[in-house]
Amino acid sequence: MKAVRTLILAFVLVALPGCQGQKAASTVGTDAAVEARIDKFLSQMTLSEKIGQMNQVSVGGDVSNYADALRKGQIGSILNEVDPVKVNEFQRISVEESRLGIPLLVGRDVIHGFHTVFPIPLGLAATFDPALVEQGARVAALEATAQGVRWTFSPMLDIARDPRWGRIAEGSGEDTYLDARMAEAMVYGYQGRAADTTSMAACIKHFVGYGAAEGGRDYNSTFLTERQLRNVYLPPFEAAVKAGAMTLMTSFNDNDGVPSTANTFMVKDVLRGEWGFDGLVVTDWNSMGEMIAHGYGTDRKDVAKKALDAGVDMDMMTYGYVSHLEELVHSGAVKEAAIDQAVRNILRVKILLGLFEHPYVDVDASAAVQYAPEHLAAAQRSVEESAILLKNNGVLPLEAAPLRNILVTGPLADAPHDQLGTWAFDGEKEHTVTPLKALKERFPGKVSYVPGLTYSRENRARFDDVVAAARRADVVLVFVGEEAILSGEAHSLADLNLKGSQSELLAALKATGKPVVATVMAGRPLTIERDLPNCDALLYAFHPGTMGGPALANLLFGDVTPSGKTPVTFLRTVGQVPLYYNHTMTGRPYNGETLLDDIPQEAGQTSLGNTSYYLDYGPYPLFPFGFGLSYTTFSYSDASLDRDVYGKDDTITISCTLANTGGRNGTEVVQVYVRDLMGSLTRPVKELKHFERVHLQAGESRTLQMQIPVSELAFYGQDGMKKVEPGDFQLWVAGDSDSGEPMNFCVK
Ligand code: GLC
Repeated sequence: MKAVRTLILAFVLVALPGCQGQKAASTVGTDAAVEARIDKFLSQMTLSEKIGQMNQVSVGGDVSNYADALRKGQIGSILNEVDPVKVNEFQRISVEESRLGIPLLVGRDVIHGFHTVFPIPLGLAATFDPALVEQGARVAALEATAQGVRWTFSPMLDIARDPRWGRIAEGSGEDTYLDARMAEAMVYGYQGRAADTTSMAACIKHFVGYGAAEGGRDYNSTFLTERQLRNVYLPPFEAAVKAGAMTLMTSFNDNDGVPSTANTFMVKDVLRGEWGFDGLVVTDWNSMGEMIAHGYGTDRKDVAKKALDAGVDMDMMTYGYVSHLEELVHSGAVKEAAIDQAVRNILRVKILLGLFEHPYVDVDASAAVQYAPEHLAAAQRSVEESAILLKNNGVLPLEAAPLRNILVTGPLADAPHDQLGTWAFDGEKEHTVTPLKALKERFPGKVSYVPGLTYSRENRARFDDVVAAARRADVVLVFVGEEAILSGEAHSLADLNLKGSQSELLAALKATGKPVVATVMAGRPLTIERDLPNCDALLYAFHPGTMGGPALANLLFGDVTPSGKTPVTFLRTVGQVPLYYNHTMTGRPYNGETLLDDIPQEAGQTSLGNTSYYLDYGPYPLFPFGFGLSYTTFSYSDASLDRDVYGKDDTITISCTLANTGGRNGTEVVQVYVRDLMGSLTRPVKELKHFERVHLQAGESRTLQMQIPVSELAFYGQDGMKKVEPGDFQLWVAGDSDSGEPMNFCVK
């Protein structure tokens, strides 16, 4: 079976002026035999059966409740059934009791693992390790397909620059390049390099711009220009399409007044026309019906037509298609050809997944796949690489030998449900290994546990019990953060400080004078500046999933050296939103102007700096994008470029020497940033264009050579064309977005 590969033929029509991408003449995502098979089905199907394929239903309870609709071919896909026996019964009725025997597409939100839960996607992005992320997605596919799920509504590619938005947890953060690499990795992982019955169709979502919800309030409107979309939000989707993503989901938001589920330009012109996407487009849950609430449609018939006109193939839970398309065709408002095209896209995915040949799952074999040791090992390694060391006064790594009493405390120390994070539908907390459990197993008789707070929102006035326990301990390991329910969809927050009395707990523990090591488990970058003085070290683990406990124990005690880097900017206060590294310069960049504490009394109106910053919090974040400490140190030296001047078809070769200057082995995420100093549009002060993980023994140094094609510097300029504009550039090689010295080069 041939995986869907969207091969865009070489014929590129001359691009039209305005924000037009280059148009692909056609797409060859599949071969002639597949298309012929689809033609045959279409010739046999009634209009009602065609429309049935376009209907996706969330199911639960008895399969018999759906039997009649299945026999009539009125359901093309189901979601939210993961019992392999029931999945097989759904398929049996569809295949053996309907007229044409077309199997169902069985979907599920397998977002960061199925039963074996990996770190949330924001944590996976912090690994800067696409190969590891691909492995995790492959594990998710093996476990989910073993229970009959052949379609996941993942990866989520929404660029997120606003941590108030709860769904920042589900994506890869603020950077376009990192997001694109993670997108490719998950598509390959889910669908498999050599597709077979363990292939699970990826669904790239939410198309598009959903992460820019105004105010960070979920489902809110976005106001992104086409240039912002093309230069920041669309590239990860394009990369995923090129990686062969089989499906795409439209988003809830309206952008610039047009709901995505009716955005003809984005779906038909960009996705299909420019990129040649030949997979299946599905709405988000009732996003078709929500266009009525948006005030963009009068009723379900109206919004069904608008969605179909925009090129949306499948309706998730509005029942708009199955209720109104037949009438719309008979009235002439909709052409049957449009329905044929949608059904063609749906059948193509079903054929390419091999569902006609293998509609059923081997129930007896499914249990053995779940939680396989190698799956758990992959999940643990993902945590070990994703955790970010943000502070360490030298207390870490802990030496176990001299410790007699390790106090474990905090609401996330033994929270098997919350540790899994958001969108862990099939994670089972019984399988979660919490830090408390892992530490007790590792250090029998040495670990004392006093929670201090039983959950993250709990308010307490006094901590006598845990303070007394801390006084008796040699070291305090405190686990704080967010309950899973405060993260994810519809869970926006206006205050990003640790909830409840967690900060007070840290202060009380610090006051004992004992070493305090904090680990934060959260679904977003919380504002932790006020907590840092109360920790001797702080490890940030975006909800780490099933194997968080053993992984964090290995990190805290030095079996593993932290290597995670921030995939999103950490703010000093929520009032700084939005603040991200790849911002534009403005006409008045900050230049050391006066901050609040230095303002004299009765200062004259024009006496302060007239530049872009906050008087009270300044211009900088708490931690920049790409930042993370290690138990060792790294130095960059002898950085050079192979030339000073490049042509547009050249490749930039960057050399530098990376040395592990500390006493422990460690892995550095080497990052390369580029700045286009002048363009037909104002350009970001920096953009990530390459990264790689480099492991060095203590004392080892290595000369690295990295390549960046000059074509990677292209952007959609003021003329709407994507191209590299000649001129002067700067390039940094560093360990985060705020370090290093620029090297200059120019493009002729
Ligand atoms: C949701 C989400 C989407 C998810 C879908 C199915 O509301 O927005 O990401 O895949 O419904 O659960």
